[in-house]
Amino acid sequence: MDVSRRRTLLKVIVLGDSGVGKTSLMNQYVYKKFNQQYKATIGADFITKELRIDDKMVTLQLWDTAGQERFQGLGSAFYRGADCCVLVYDVNILKTFESLNNWREEFLKQADPDDTNTLPFVVIGNKIDKDGGKKRMVSERRAREWCASKGNIPYFETSAKEDYNVDDAFLGVANTALAGE
Ligand code: GTP
Ligand code: MG
Repeated sequence: MDVSRRRTLLKVIVLGDSGVGKTSLMNQYVYKKFNQQYKATIGADFITKELRIDDKMVTLQLWDTAGQERFQGLGSAFYRGADCCVLVYDVNILKTFESLNNWREEFLKQADPDDTNTLPFVVIGNKIDKDGGKKRMVSERRAREWCASKGNIPYFETSAKEDYNVDDAFLGVANTALAGE
């Protein structure tokens, strides 16, 4: 079988503090829907999205996770085999940005990859629409500097609410995951 025509399944794990918009980003990307109401994710579940990149059909298996500690407790079997880990924070809440390193380390610990340098992370700064950006607590520059310091992690800014840059961010996720294949 022609390798280039084979369907590629990419496992993507989405991590980040509670309320940053992980579920909202996925729902906007896959279903083009946004819900103003907050409903905490419990445990982990995935949705899939098919996309075509060049001549390749790619299936993204997007795993949503719980930011709230009491709903966590995913074993390392869950993380293993991940092709990409998306770290999400809320640009309006500093603490969620400061948590990124913990999420990154949790993933590295659990997924236990052979080569941590090539592990494909993507960072998303979400909710850039909020209050017209006036109450923003983390500048794009600061976020990009952090990403650069962790091995040039690709960085995207999004609004799940306004559907701003969401497609581009997940295309970046797919490309990053493919690059590690
Ligand atoms: P957990 O499941 O607890 O980990 O939270 P989560 O990261 O999945 O957050 P969720 O997607 O549930 O969003 C939390 C709240 O933020 C909801 O009320 C959303 O409507 C809102 N929200 C998500 N994305 C955006 C955004 O881009 N802009 C604005 N203004 N609100 C957003
Ligand atoms: Mg959620």
